[in-house]
Amino acid sequence: MDRFSPLKNPLVIALDVDSDTQALKLAVDLADFAGGYKLGPRLIHRYGPEFVAKIAEIAPLFVDCKFFDIPSTMESAVQASFDCGASLVTVHAMAGREALTRLAELEKKLNEQRPFRILAVTILTSWNEKSFPANFKSLPVAEHVQNLVELVQSSGLSGVVCSPEELDFLQGKDLYLVAPGIRPESVSKDDQQRTRTPFEAMKAGASALVIGRPIIAATDPMKAALEISLTMVGR
Ligand code: C5P
Repeated sequence: MDRFSPLKNPLVIALDVDSDTQALKLAVDLADFAGGYKLGPRLIHRYGPEFVAKIAEIAPLFVDCKFFDIPSTMESAVQASFDCGASLVTVHAMAGREALTRLAELEKKLNEQRPFRILAVTILTSWNEKSFPANFKSLPVAEHVQNLVELVQSSGLSGVVCSPEELDFLQGKDLYLVAPGIRPESVSKDDQQRTRTPFEAMKAGASALVIGRPIIAATDPMKAALEISLTMVGR
């Protein structure tokens, strides 16, 4: 797969709204800028496969449900997402080697039909050393991330969701790195703690950026998407 595949370009727009009409309007309006659209349970569970398929017709679809279960259930969940039109899906790296190895085989098989990537989530960015469950406390976050990324890669997967600051130690490892937590300089950080600008994140080796509120909550989403697309490539 090439550097951006299966996306049209590295900008993934998170459609984090509650209404299908609003999500579809955004998807149509932003189609010229979106490398892909990200949907989560918020819309998928409310409106179902028909709605999901409509979004996937407009641009490559990223289904972000972060599956974490026994290997066979994870395989079925990934297959069902693919069947609904997903080009990218997320799973938890902590599901372990057997699940990840079986998912790597599934990814390979599904790629015979169309470009498709499984992205592993390592440590949630909402966790830190203080809020970790007790059995995680012995190591710093960055070390957990590195260990989990090693597990992901040695299981045969290459897609990882990472925070903008983790890009620094994950770049150059032949990984497909997808980073949320991106904020243009002039825009509110909302509830994101450690952000980077679109240009900084691309320079630090991101393969794709997930951006929601700076676009979908802007007064003029199309203008915001255009500006972000330009700054991603340093213009
Ligand atoms: O609006 P904003 O640009 O902060 O949206 C970022 C998107 O990426 C949201 O859909 C959020 O759930 C998702 N995400 C994240 N941090 C992670 C994983 C996913 O912000 N570690």
